[in-house]
Amino acid sequence: MSATRARLSRPPLSGSEWFAVELDPDEGTVVVLDQRRLPDEEHYERLRSPDEVRRAIADMVVRGAPAIGIAAAYALVLQARAERGDARAFLLAMGIAGRMLAAARPTAVNLQWAVARMARVAAEVAHRPPAVRAERIQLEAEAIHREDVAACRAIGVLGAADLPDGAVVLTHCNAGALATGGYGTALGVVRAARDAGKRVRVLATETRPYLQGARLTAWELQRDGIEVEVVPDGAAAVVLAAGEVHRVLVGADRVARNGDVANKVGTYGLAVLARAHEVPFAVAAPTSTLDMATPTGADIPIEQRSREEIALVAGRRIVPDGVPCRHPAFDVTPARLIDVLYTERGALRPARGETPETLRRK
Ligand code: MRU
Repeated sequence: MSATRARLSRPPLSGSEWFAVELDPDEGTVVVLDQRRLPDEEHYERLRSPDEVRRAIADMVVRGAPAIGIAAAYALVLQARAERGDARAFLLAMGIAGRMLAAARPTAVNLQWAVARMARVAAEVAHRPPAVRAERIQLEAEAIHREDVAACRAIGVLGAADLPDGAVVLTHCNAGALATGGYGTALGVVRAARDAGKRVRVLATETRPYLQGARLTAWELQRDGIEVEVVPDGAAAVVLAAGEVHRVLVGADRVARNGDVANKVGTYGLAVLARAHEVPFAVAAPTSTLDMATPTGADIPIEQRSREEIALVAGRRIVPDGVPCRHPAFDVTPARLIDVLYTERGALRPARGETPETLRRK
């Protein structure tokens, strides 16, 4: 493993020496860990424009719902610093950059949520001098980042209380520090359980085709000294049938108003398996992932990625040329299969009819 340390001009807001995304205000860059290179290389890229950030999001250099929202917010800091014109020019430039960033990936609502939040602040400060408005935009992006880390920690405490000592958790994809501002959602629960003195072991599904489970979840848990074992996606039924797993615990890219959850493709299958084997199925997500404007899971746009990502493994062809491949990057788990949804504002029981609306009333 080779490492290119990210030398930031200040301590990282993620609170960790390794991180998915940070702003380096002195350098005027967004610093991202290139997650495509893990676990072989810990290599950080410095992004210098909103378009470079958009490309990093679309190409999965930085990925995970909260992390791409934070990256987009920081990209808008770069845009605000670059724009020295009047209020009209500033709002035009911020609007164009925001729309371009929000379109980089369609399913994770945190991306659109962060861009919309930044746009509201841009409208408030448009008439201020360039240096003042850029500073205010930076403060908002940093608040989004700090709030995400705090949300992950609160989710962690809540979820960890439900884990027994010696728990075995099955997770899918990567809903860890690498997918968030730091600490993680599903893996934040695991970290909090460990921090509370509980023994906890993670089974990570490989997560074809990007292998976020094998490459990223395994990397960050090993790095934190948490026991982890990788299983092929197809072996999830085997470990559940064996009675090895106390709980299936995943993150989310978008939670619809009725409690349906979009997450990495394969999540729905795991929820069906968990129900069949009477293992609790839990989702951990900050409230920035709740989308009250989307009525049900059927209304969530599902990203379709390229054939190449299925047909090539490490540059080698594994599907004959001419054979089509289908590549939905996410699926939707219906609320009735979700026993618990942990947020920083409390837990919901979607399978018992509780929805994000219930959280508002709590
Ligand atoms: O395609 P990815 O790697 O961005 O997908 C990520 C996931 O599906 C995560 O589970 C989700 O974003 C939650 S991250 C806390």
